[in-house]
Amino acid sequence: MDKPSKIAPAKGKLGVLLPGMGAVATTFMAGVELVRKGKAQPVGSLTQLGTIRLGKRTDGRTPQINKFVPLANLKDLVFGGWDIFKDNAYQAAANAGVLNPQDLALVKPFLSKIKPMTAAFDPNFVRLIDGPNIKKGKTKYDLALQIKADIANFKKTSGADRLVACWCGSTESFLKPEAVHSTPKKFEAAMKANHPSISPSMLYAWACVTSGVPYANGSPNLSVDIPAIVTLAQENGVPIAGKDFKTGQTLIKTVLAPAFKARMLGLDGWFSTNILGNRDGEVLEDPGSFKTKEESKLGVLEYILQPDLYPELYGKMHHKVRINYYPPRGDNKEGWDNIDIFGWLGYPMQIKVDFLCRDSILAAPIVLDLILFLDLAQRAGMGGIQEWLSFYLKSPMTAEGLYPEHDLFIQSMKLKNTLRWMKGEELITHLGREYYD
Ligand SMILES: NC(=O)c1ccc[n+]([C@@H]2O[C@H](COP(=O)([O-])OP(=O)(O)OC[C@H]3O[C@@H](n4cnc5c(N)ncnc54)[C@H](O)[C@@H]3O)[C@@H](O)[C@H]2O)c1
Repeated sequence: MDKPSKIAPAKGKLGVLLPGMGAVATTFMAGVELVRKGKAQPVGSLTQLGTIRLGKRTDGRTPQINKFVPLANLKDLVFGGWDIFKDNAYQAAANAGVLNPQDLALVKPFLSKIKPMTAAFDPNFVRLIDGPNIKKGKTKYDLALQIKADIANFKKTSGADRLVACWCGSTESFLKPEAVHSTPKKFEAAMKANHPSISPSMLYAWACVTSGVPYANGSPNLSVDIPAIVTLAQENGVPIAGKDFKTGQTLIKTVLAPAFKARMLGLDGWFSTNILGNRDGEVLEDPGSFKTKEESKLGVLEYILQPDLYPELYGKMHHKVRINYYPPRGDNKEGWDNIDIFGWLGYPMQIKVDFLCRDSILAAPIVLDLILFLDLAQRAGMGGIQEWLSFYLKSPMTAEGLYPEHDLFIQSMKLKNTLRWMKGEELITHLGREYYD
């Protein structure tokens, strides 16, 4: 693809649609409003705080990213969403218990006005919760059409010029791609036939992509990443990205593992365990939802360490991931990693990481960056999979036949080079010979 010949300006309001208005979604919306009111800093957001070097190291050109590319301004964001519970965003945020009451009080009037639309839900995919705010329809296709109507209605009532969506709903049960997911035609027929392998998140993804709305998937379940929806996204010029926000333990894993590989240090095993007590943790108690999350968390080491290329270093590694629901911790997860590495002559060493993190505090800036960059991609005419947004995701989507890049620093370089490419700037290779000529 050639570089975009022009990027349409970010004029008017950007409507942000969130299927799933729980801990992450409400922490994100509350945070945007606190930043807009000047009460907090958007820490963790590359679009708000990051800079980008242009040209040579001696040129002294390092603009803010949001001055370099035309991103929507925070003041122009308006919000909507769906949930199976009727709580407005204030009540949902209070239940989630991520932000303290003082911060929440500052944004109470704003959050209270955001009321969830009725959700497309199927308890077969999320077994441990159920709620009253649910759409009725004879077929899954009827539900998807209702979501499309919600999207059109939100656009009208919110006065948004453009829309963008990010799935912040619960993790659904594990599914493998099947024939019904392979083409838009088969997918539509399967929705009409209530096929059991069509999940609610796929209905949102289909409704958004066929309505021209860019879509990111923040959870690990199969959704926007099926061939049927990827094809529709390409055909309709709609940017998509997924999946599973890369927040705590996996963020650290994708920083440490590349360091071991770069230095040719070996790995015998990596044991990761988590305790968390939010609703996400409750949903992940179900083996079906856990399997989806486990697959997403396990993939990264195989791809980064390439045991097939380095059998003597990584051929025998054991990688285990455990998630334990432990209510006292709420959203404040503890992620322990025990890493058994070995060095020169095979001598063993250990590294222990104990990350006392806050899940939704880490996820909220990712939601913000994903939606702003997806909106930018759409205005630049870049439809289909946005691999340059892998930086934010645990299981990045790629073109068929391509393995994903998990190394955080490769991902960061890819993201920034994509921005340079979009604006016709020279790409940065870090070769640097010219300084010595
Ligand atoms: N917080 C993190 O660090 C992090 C990292 C990676 C991925 N995620 C994923 O992000 C998602 C959201 O996490 P959270 O902590 O906000 O969870 P949460 O349980 O607080 O919120 C999820 C919300 O989705 C709603 N929901 C479930 N199915 C729905 C449907 N079909 N339609 C509409 N709403 C639906 C639930 O009622 C709930 O309110 C989860 O899938 C989680 O695995 C979170």
